[in-house]
Amino acid sequence: MNASVPAWRRLTCFLFICLLVIILVFVLNFELNNKIQENVFYKTLSKKIRKIGIVIVLDENAQTKYKQYSENMKCYAKQHKYTFIILNPKSYSNCSLIKNFFFQKHCAVLNYMKSMINIQWFAVLDGDIFAFNNSKLIEDFIPNNANIHLIFYERFYTGEIMAGAYLIENHPWSHRFLYKWSQFYFQLPQIGYHNHDNGALHMIFLEMIEKPDGILKKCHLKYLRSSNEQNYYRYLRCFRCAIGGQRLFEHIQVLRRGHGFARDFHIPFINDFLLHGYKDELNQYFYNPTKCTTNWLTNIKESSLISNIEIAKNMTKAKDESAMRKYSISLGIPDVTDCWPNCEQNITGNKLVKYLAALCN
Ligand SMILES: *[C@@H]1O[C@H](CO)[C@@H](O)[C@H](O)[C@H]1NC(C)=O
Ligand SMILES: *[C@@H]1O[C@H](CO)[C@@H](O)[C@H](O)[C@H]1NC(C)=O
Ligand SMILES: *[C@@H]1O[C@H](CO)[C@@H](O)[C@H](O)[C@H]1NC(C)=O
Ligand SMILES: *[C@@H]1O[C@H](CO)[C@@H](O)[C@H](O)[C@H]1NC(C)=O
Repeated sequence: MNASVPAWRRLTCFLFICLLVIILVFVLNFELNNKIQENVFYKTLSKKIRKIGIVIVLDENAQTKYKQYSENMKCYAKQHKYTFIILNPKSYSNCSLIKNFFFQKHCAVLNYMKSMINIQWFAVLDGDIFAFNNSKLIEDFIPNNANIHLIFYERFYTGEIMAGAYLIENHPWSHRFLYKWSQFYFQLPQIGYHNHDNGALHMIFLEMIEKPDGILKKCHLKYLRSSNEQNYYRYLRCFRCAIGGQRLFEHIQVLRRGHGFARDFHIPFINDFLLHGYKDELNQYFYNPTKCTTNWLTNIKESSLISNIEIAKNMTKAKDESAMRKYSISLGIPDVTDCWPNCEQNITGNKLVKYLAALCN
């Protein structure tokens, strides 16, 4: 019987069975993968499908002044399919009562966020920040902890929480944060050195992490006495004592000095991502600052870069020591000298004891 079946029919039959097996394996595998992704890797998966936007707030003059920087960030955004926008705070009528650019900025960001419900996270960046290494991703700085809605970093020199660059989730909690922050304009004290939104940020921060009233009052008093820069550091000192070694809060993460998604240094290190450029000309770092290339290395001026991490460590240590000489009032101790670039999330142990002793007396 078999012999009478032509060879081509046997072959067809064989191929058909092969196809069925392949389909079966594929379907099973897909189901299994789905299950694994849903259960075990759900967070990693959701991290990948997050939509991210980059927001830069500049008025008309600043848009011209920082053109090089915004071209750089626009190119970076394009490469990673992030939404990119330059917001003019004047374009929102319900921010117009806020007569200070910095507070108006957070008001504009709030309005924009609310209008972009399909975007889950935003990087809100000062106009003089640029992408030094455009292979790095914003999502790598967003923790998998779904309770975290806001990420700041500490300024290297003073330990101040940097107001000009934050990652923020499009979430009601963040909206409340931005609303309070922008409305702080109306309770801005008449003092010599309030440092605009950056001074206000530390009061809002203490309130949003629900520090007891006594602590809020104590730091507010220091804030009201901020007649000059030196007294402003006393206010920061109060804040830094109040948060202690903690850098991860219920809804906020603060990246420690030198560990942020951006860094306040003139000289780029090999592990840098965004640099706060201090309004430098970008051709100090790139052969062609406005060229949008995926080949990052070919455009970078190697001579501007510290590519040996051991040298970068030594330089960071030296900067930490010089920061201590100038800003010990708010810094307390050189807390990253011994551990940069891999310091712990919080300040703990013996270092915390020293930190508290230096800041809380
Ligand atoms: C401005 O108006 C928009 C739309 O009505 C609203 O969502 C937003 O919260 C308002 N912003 C402020 C700061 O009041
Ligand atoms: C740029 O960042 C990527 C991703 O983190 C990293 O692999 C690469 O080494 C960095 N490039 C340089 C030259 O620093
Ligand atoms: C870093 O500093 C240490 C201590 O001063 C020194 O021994 C070491 O050679 C320096 N490393 C580099 C790469 O400069
Ligand atoms: C940092 O402190 C927070 C709050 O105390 C804690 O939840 C978190 O686990 C700490 N982080 C690490 C890495 O220990």
